[in-house]
Amino acid sequence: MNSLHDLLAIRRSIRQYKNEPLTPEEVKTILEAGLLSPTGKNCRAWHFIAVDNPEMLQRLSECKASGAGPVARCALAVVVAVDITASTTWVEDASIAAAYMMLQARDLGIGSCWIEVNARLAADGTPAEDIVSELLGLPEQIQPLCIVTFGYPDEDRKPQNTDKLLWERVHLGTFRPEQC
Ligand SMILES: Cc1cc2nc3c(=O)[nH]c(=O)nc-3n(C[C@H](O)[C@H](O)[C@H](O)COP(=O)(O)O)c2cc1C
Repeated sequence: MNSLHDLLAIRRSIRQYKNEPLTPEEVKTILEAGLLSPTGKNCRAWHFIAVDNPEMLQRLSECKASGAGPVARCALAVVVAVDITASTTWVEDASIAAAYMMLQARDLGIGSCWIEVNARLAADGTPAEDIVSELLGLPEQIQPLCIVTFGYPDEDRKPQNTDKLLWERVHLGTFRPEQC
């Protein structure tokens, strides 16, 4: 098992996947990580739509003009959506859940990539969230933020180089513009 700090450095976006399904236990563990994530006022208004049907994955991958290719190639995609009538922090709630699932996946040796849906457009100008909602039958108040793709990695990504972190973005005591 990795330490959490190691995990943060070795998690990279993985966009190429082996053509192998995840095990039911792996899928459950990833989804459980989402359900363990904190939410504003503990509202837990998220919904996680797990998709492994290749045809649906292909259609979801076309929800925006570019950047959603991994959805067509992954073993599992989890659409992270939130009931916006039940959460005033829906973007934050969905984001934290997505990040938890990505870190959990990496801990299992599974690659992942965040695919943004919110405020993105399909090739014909249709909002990506409308396409995702229509495909999955989401009610109007359930807003999708992103799709997280998962699969066994079929590419090597180096860990982040901790010598190159942007420490100039860290300000001690007060903001110091000369550090920017
Ligand atoms: C809010 C957000 C939106 C992103 N949207 C996409 C996306 O639509 N497609 C994609 O391939 N990667 C997307 N990414 C992945 C980023 O490109 C990636 O995290 C960044 O380049 C850093 O690389 P790393 O994750 O390998 O460290 C997104 C990441 C975040 C946090």
